[in-house]
Amino acid sequence: MKILMIGCGGREHVLVAGLAKSADVTDIWCAPGNPGMAEETLANGKKVVWVPIPITDTLGLRRFAKERAVDLTVIGPEGPLCEGITDIFEVAGLTVFGPNKAAARFEGSKCFAQEFARRHKLPFAPGECFNDLHEAKAYARSLGGRCVVKADGLCGGKGSFPCQAVAEADVAIENLLLKRQLGPAGDRIVIQEWLDGFELSLHILCDGTSWKLLPAAQDHKRLCPGNQGPQTGGMGAYSPYPYLSLQEIEKVAESIMKPFLQGCRREGVVFRGLLYPGIMMTKSGPKILEFNVRFGDPETQVIVPRLENDLAGLLLATAQEELCSVPLKVKYDRSAVCVVIAAPGYPAKPVLGKKIEGLDNLRGLWDVKIFHAGTRLLGSDLVTAGGRILGVTAWGSDLKYATRAAYAAAKLVRIDGGSQMRPDIAGGPC
Ligand code: AMP
Ligand code: GLY
Repeated sequence: MKILMIGCGGREHVLVAGLAKSADVTDIWCAPGNPGMAEETLANGKKVVWVPIPITDTLGLRRFAKERAVDLTVIGPEGPLCEGITDIFEVAGLTVFGPNKAAARFEGSKCFAQEFARRHKLPFAPGECFNDLHEAKAYARSLGGRCVVKADGLCGGKGSFPCQAVAEADVAIENLLLKRQLGPAGDRIVIQEWLDGFELSLHILCDGTSWKLLPAAQDHKRLCPGNQGPQTGGMGAYSPYPYLSLQEIEKVAESIMKPFLQGCRREGVVFRGLLYPGIMMTKSGPKILEFNVRFGDPETQVIVPRLENDLAGLLLATAQEELCSVPLKVKYDRSAVCVVIAAPGYPAKPVLGKKIEGLDNLRGLWDVKIFHAGTRLLGSDLVTAGGRILGVTAWGSDLKYATRAAYAAAKLVRIDGGSQMRPDIAGGPC
């Protein structure tokens, strides 16, 4: 099987590492890829090949996939999915893992997701959509200001504003609807009630009719220990999720997928790919905060190492609507923890271009793997190229062991000018 992976972050690196293990995979190209992916070796001894086609060059990517007779294209990030890359590839007879444009709206428009959830009675965070400033402010006031104001469109994880008071909510609403701080992504907004509880990331493979729940994970979205500081893309993750039993987690997934698939059927939407509902476990049960239509980052770094399955077979079966024929096999006796090493100044203004050293110390370890997120080569040096630089993932028989191993490994990495790392990943509820 020949595979093209589209994307360049930690999520795509761990997917490539997983796909490379499959005996059926003969070639992997990654576009635009990163230096970490290019170090991966396939089961047949070939290296993963790095292709310098930008993620936005949909037609260039499609031409490449056709020329190389790629059997499966895996789309990592949400941007191309929401732009309709799957539809464009499928028109040319290519097989794609990732939803089409209509199905990608679950992430591309928070208003669409909120309203779909209402129409089909999904357990969603209570909230409303607005484009009128005064109506939005009145709703936030009716919640006593305890709400989360969210831009409708994609904002790379920077479009949600948690508020605890009316004045704070007014500022967030004005910034989006009046000052247009996020441009057209903020043409409309969702205001959700503030929910207290523990967050849970579910990753569900769905082939349009059947679905399979991957191991559950928890992300740590805030920058600082104790879940303080600004929201980030995710500073670390761990799996399994220790606050619910496997049966309880399966029940949460069922409570989402039954109405989700029923709603999709009624509205003529076919969802084929990975659905990742971000969930708050509240006192009154699970509430979906948002839908994502791709693997989470860094959650994927702790999910893939817990899968026994041939990843290529699993993703291909999803794309070909044959998921029910593949039994899911999870390494229940393995826990995994990912600690993200981020650049100073992240998330507001990360300092980039700094030399990264120490990775050689970590090669060949059986229980630790470094996934590249924001790195590039400058001559022969590896330098920082993104706010989140590396994900240090470790696994072991329990979360305690995996956490210790991840931090021990992360301490061996040196970044010129320093770095940021949360010291409490897997260290308590968030
Ligand atoms: P989102 O942009 O919807 O993924 O939200 C980003 C983060 O904001 C989530 O992971 C939560 O930590 C927090 N959040 C979002 N919606 C809510 C909500 N309704 N109540 C409390 N926290 C929320
Ligand atoms: N870890 C959050 C996300 O991937 O959206």
